[in-house]
Amino acid sequence: MESFSYQDGQLFAESVALTDIAQAVGSPVFVYSRGEIEQRWRDYDEAFGGRNHLICYAVKANSNLAVLALLAKLGSGFDIVSIGELERVLRAGGDPKKIIFSGVAKTEAEMRRALEVGIHCFNIESVNELDQLNGVAESMGRVAPVSVRVNPDVDANTHPYIATGLKESKFGIAIEQASDVYARASQMGGIRITGVDCHIGSQLTEIEPFLEALDRTLELVGDLQDQGVTLEHIDIGGGLGISYYDEQPPRPEEFILAMMDRFQDMGSRYQNMQFIIEPGRSIVGNAGVLLAKIEYLKKTEVRNFAIVDTAMNDLMRPALYDAWHEIVPVIKNEYGNSQIYDVVGPVCESGDFLGRGRELDIREGDLLAVCSVGAYGSVMSSNYNSRPRAAEVMVSGDAWHIIRKRENMDDLMRGESLLPD
Ligand code: LLP
Repeated sequence: MESFSYQDGQLFAESVALTDIAQAVGSPVFVYSRGEIEQRWRDYDEAFGGRNHLICYAVKANSNLAVLALLAKLGSGFDIVSIGELERVLRAGGDPKKIIFSGVAKTEAEMRRALEVGIHCFNIESVNELDQLNGVAESMGRVAPVSVRVNPDVDANTHPYIATGLKESKFGIAIEQASDVYARASQMGGIRITGVDCHIGSQLTEIEPFLEALDRTLELVGDLQDQGVTLEHIDIGGGLGISYYDEQPPRPEEFILAMMDRFQDMGSRYQNMQFIIEPGRSIVGNAGVLLAKIEYLKKTEVRNFAIVDTAMNDLMRPALYDAWHEIVPVIKNEYGNSQIYDVVGPVCESGDFLGRGRELDIREGDLLAVCSVGAYGSVMSSNYNSRPRAAEVMVSGDAWHIIRKRENMDDLMRGESLLPD
């Protein structure tokens, strides 16, 4: 959260006081730092040095058009999982030739559109999907560039909902079966084999599982070469974690350097391959906060509740994964009345909490900032309890812009209709 800091007891994003934004836009509101997003992307890019690489930002982490446009301007590629993400990237000015299409259930229509715009690669996750893609490409007179997403069976030591590289997972093709899939693909008129891909999970805080996955994948690349299949790229997925509490994940540059070292050690036969990564969280995660106003302080026999105007519909991570997000006051007041609070929202579920057991010195009407919500925050929000989605704002130096308007009542009911009489 390097771009968020207190100045004279007031929380700022870059050079803008967060109270100014809340006053103008209301709450809840997601506020992002442009500088932080750009810096994290550059950290990755610079760490690669002269090596042939492509950073494909994982759009699912934060798909706001303004975020995508910033990254497109830096020259980023994009990792998408749906036609919706594809259209967003195109609208934001992303280069289709730098798009990777991941996901276990690409539909025929999605394949068609991606072939039409000429994406960099499809990451294939099953033989049936490969067959379907071949059929679609042939029917269009095109050839689809393909990577096989292998499942290297590596334990990522992360929350089970976001671990993807184990045998039990629905993702990828078991690495032992990959050679057969490549052999099949090489016979297909609508398919051109270009690479190999894996992604073992998200919010990883150690390098070791990545290196293990890389080793196993490179071993496969070597075997394939022996069989006459030469790959142009290796895609190691995303997944590098960020610090929410006291985690100390490697920084992007350390992570890339460790991977590059291992790559180097494997010998010259891999040296010309393009190295692709698909980071999401580690680029945008710490670049966002969610501002909430305290509506009521409520004391029960066993708990103090700070009831705020944001909820699980805006930020689902605490309810879904029991995730921890730091919660801090936007103005550090010293009322001399520090208490332990559960910070909760208005949604009618006991799972509707932003944080539990937090020590805060607060009053009704104060603003709180829920930290590290730049990734998987707004994108996972919903209208549950008929709550309009929050606004989103991007700060850049001493300027700020609304990059998504707060939904109004018409937005809330758009597309719905009454039955005819
Ligand atoms: N590539 C693939 C194929 C993925 O499935 C994912 C994330 C990424 C890249 C980006 O991973 P990242 O660098 O952001 O860790 N909603 C969960 C996270 C789900 C991640 C899904 N896949 C959360 O809030 O923690």
